[in-house]
Amino acid sequence: MAIDIYSAGFQEDPFPAYERLRRDEPVYREPRYGAFVLTRHRDVNDALRDHETFRSGAGPAPMPTPGPIGLPLLVATDPPQHDQLRGLVNRAFTPRRVDEMAPRIRSRARELVTAIPDDADFDVVEALSIPLPVSIIADILGIPAERQADFRRWSDAFVGLLEKPPEPTMIQATSELLTYFHELEKERRQSPGDDLISALMAAEIDGRRLSSEELDAFFIMLLVGGNETTTNLISNQLHLLATRPGLWRAIREDRSLLYDAIEETVRWDSPVQNLGREATRRVSLHGVEIPAGSRVVVSFGAANRDADTFDDPDDYRLGRDRSLHLGFGQGRHYCLGTRLARLEAAASLDALLDRFGEIELGTAPGRRLHSTVIRGFETLPLRLSVDR
Ligand code: HEM
Repeated sequence: MAIDIYSAGFQEDPFPAYERLRRDEPVYREPRYGAFVLTRHRDVNDALRDHETFRSGAGPAPMPTPGPIGLPLLVATDPPQHDQLRGLVNRAFTPRRVDEMAPRIRSRARELVTAIPDDADFDVVEALSIPLPVSIIADILGIPAERQADFRRWSDAFVGLLEKPPEPTMIQATSELLTYFHELEKERRQSPGDDLISALMAAEIDGRRLSSEELDAFFIMLLVGGNETTTNLISNQLHLLATRPGLWRAIREDRSLLYDAIEETVRWDSPVQNLGREATRRVSLHGVEIPAGSRVVVSFGAANRDADTFDDPDDYRLGRDRSLHLGFGQGRHYCLGTRLARLEAAASLDALLDRFGEIELGTAPGRRLHSTVIRGFETLPLRLSVDR
């Protein structure tokens, strides 16, 4: 039976299909676009480390769509351009800068958690998973709180452009985003602040600074990377805990388990499931010929459940060795936002655990996002209760 990784049915629960593909068709030619899907851990890992054979320059989408707006997005460049850009960004987006955000992240998470009703259904996506990352990335970039709703709309539109034929509203939103960013850039050029945009504008390697196009591209990467992925890590984590009350109580008792649980969620229910590469030459793998120029899908979600790499991979288990998980990517494009993502997820969970003794799913079912790239929820009704 053909498996359509772009279909809503697959996206609801892709794991049985991943298992079949890993076992029977590790290089799967999917029927809709003719892309080659890699699902075994070893193959995904090797492809991510071999940028000469599997290039990112044709865009990160898992389907063969043209790059969304022709900007040099870090995630869609190859060496040597990628090395240079990444070096510049690394100078500005340092662990210290992220750590300095920790108190602000914790207090924002607490504020949002305080507003959650006790013992009544509410949508956690709207109440916490979306607003926390949006407000933090807006802070990092020095963007005023009033623009945060626009921020979310722009970010959603841009992600839409990665997966669907462009709709006029998406193009409009992306152009609004760039106009806004150009105003901000002008302002910061005149009076630099202590924000990431000012730091990026000042960063230099070998006397070179980011061009205006490169700045635009990085701004978009932060917006999308900072919003869409962490949001779904928080939702996936809470969905899982709502169905495992014992685990909720165990983490509540012993907060040293917090980061372990979050990392296991990145492996087990990876917020970024699939991305794309382009084969630069003919490749023969497991008896399948991948012609030069083909789109190749690297399935992080499938690789993270490979039994050849992880014991009982479908088991969500604290304390396991998961050093090889690919939930944040691998190789040159390894995620730049891991520290921030982990911090935000930990702060939200910690604030919830402080206030609530119990968690369960709400009466109405959650609605899954339908995306080939992102796994998460559009809505997720939960019910949390304080100790009595
Ligand atoms: C749970 C949250 C996150 C997940 C699961 C995640 C996942 C990933 C993955 C899989 C890649 C590799 C892309 C590739 O190989 O083509 C990546 C790259 C990247 N991520 Fe994240 N990410 C997360 C959060 C963030 C955050 C919070 C930021 C920034 C604020 C961020 C910024 C980036 C950037 C800039 C890249 C591109 C790096 C490059 O191309 O060199 N990510 N991320």
